[in-house]
Amino acid sequence: MQLPEHGANPSHVYDRLGVTPPARITDFSENCNPAGPPRAVLELWPELISRLNAYPDPSGEPFLSKVADYHGVAPSSVIAGNGAAELLSLIAERYRGKRALVVHPTFSEYEATLRAKGVEVVRLIASEEEGFKLPVEAILEALPSADVLYLCTPNNPTGIMPERVDLAAILKKAGEAGCEVVLDEAFVDFIDESKSFIPELRDFPHVLIVRSMTKMYAIPGIRLGYAVAHPVVIAEMKAQAPHWNVNGMAAAIGAVCLEQEAYRNAAIRHAREEREKMTAFLKQHGCTVTDSETNFLAFKPEDAGKLYKDMLARGIVLRHSENFHGMDGRWLRIGMKSVVEMEELRAELADWFEQEAVNGKE
Ligand SMILES: Cc1ncc(COP(=O)(O)O)c(C=O)c1O
Repeated sequence: MQLPEHGANPSHVYDRLGVTPPARITDFSENCNPAGPPRAVLELWPELISRLNAYPDPSGEPFLSKVADYHGVAPSSVIAGNGAAELLSLIAERYRGKRALVVHPTFSEYEATLRAKGVEVVRLIASEEEGFKLPVEAILEALPSADVLYLCTPNNPTGIMPERVDLAAILKKAGEAGCEVVLDEAFVDFIDESKSFIPELRDFPHVLIVRSMTKMYAIPGIRLGYAVAHPVVIAEMKAQAPHWNVNGMAAAIGAVCLEQEAYRNAAIRHAREEREKMTAFLKQHGCTVTDSETNFLAFKPEDAGKLYKDMLARGIVLRHSENFHGMDGRWLRIGMKSVVEMEELRAELADWFEQEAVNGKE
C-alpha cells in the first residue's frame, strides 16, 4: 500500500488505506497558517471578479514589484511562479543532464522535479542520531562533484534551520567549486525574515532562493510563489516559464499579502508558542522531537505506524514519513494549527499513550 507523497488532501490517505473517514477530520499533515488568509484578501475578493476577463500581467505585476520592495532587491532579480512548485520545476530544467546533491530527509519535490528533467541525483542523509543536523563536512566534500546543491532552510520535515556559519561556509565553498545552490525558504516566514539569505545574495551570484506564499498566507489554492537570484539566472528561468504563468487574481492577492506585517508577526508568535507546547508534551511522553524553529515539528514515538493509523481512526491526520529518506516511517510530522485544535490533539495523544502503556503491561 502506497501512502500519498505529500501532506494535505486527507481524503486521499483514507482512500489509500481503505479506511472510512470519521465525520470530523483535523488535518495536521499540512503546514499552512491556521489563521486562514489575511482579512485584506477576503476584502479584495469581490473586486477580483472584474479581473476574470483580462489577461494577467505577463511578469506577475503588481506582485513582482511588491516582492522586490519587500526584500529591497531589483525587480530583475525576481521571478513570480504558479506556486513554489512551478519554480522548482523551472529550476530543475537548469540542471538537465547534470548532477544534483540533495540532503535528506527533505521535501520530496526536489528529487521528483530533478529526475523528471533527467538530472542525476546524489543523496546525502542527515543522521537521525545527530538530530538531523546538516552534515556539513559531507556536503563540503561532495560539492566539487556536483552542479547544484538543494537545501531546504528551514528544512521540511524536521523544521531545523541550519546554523548561519555552516550555511555561509557551504555557499562559499560551492561558489569556489562552481556548484549552484538552491535554498528553499518556503517556511522561513514563520521564523523571521532576518533568517532569510536574500539580503546576502549580492555576494552569492550562484545561489537561487525559492519562496512560497502558500504557507504563511494560507493560500494553497491560489498557487503563488517567487524566486530571487542573480538577474542573469532569473532571465534564464523566465525564458523557460510559460507565458502568463501567474494568474491575475493571484498577483493581486500576493501584493496585498506582503503588506500584512501584523498578521505575519501574529503567525510567528503562534507557531513558536504552539511548537514549544507540543514539543514539551511529546518529550514528556518519551518521544524524540526535532529542534524545529518553524510551524511544524517531527517526532519519533515508539511505534509511529500504529500511532499514525490509530489517529486516523480518531479523525486526526498526521504526516507519515514513509517517503522521507532517513526517517523511513519511524517519524511523524505535525503542523501547528489553532490553539483549540492543538489542545484536542494533545488530549487524543495523551489518551493513546495511556492506552498503549496499559496494553504494554497486560
Ligand atoms: C519545502 C517546500 N517547498 C515548496 C513547497 C511548494 O509550495 P507551493 O504551495 O508554493 O507550491 C512546499 C509545499 O509543501 C514545501 O513544503
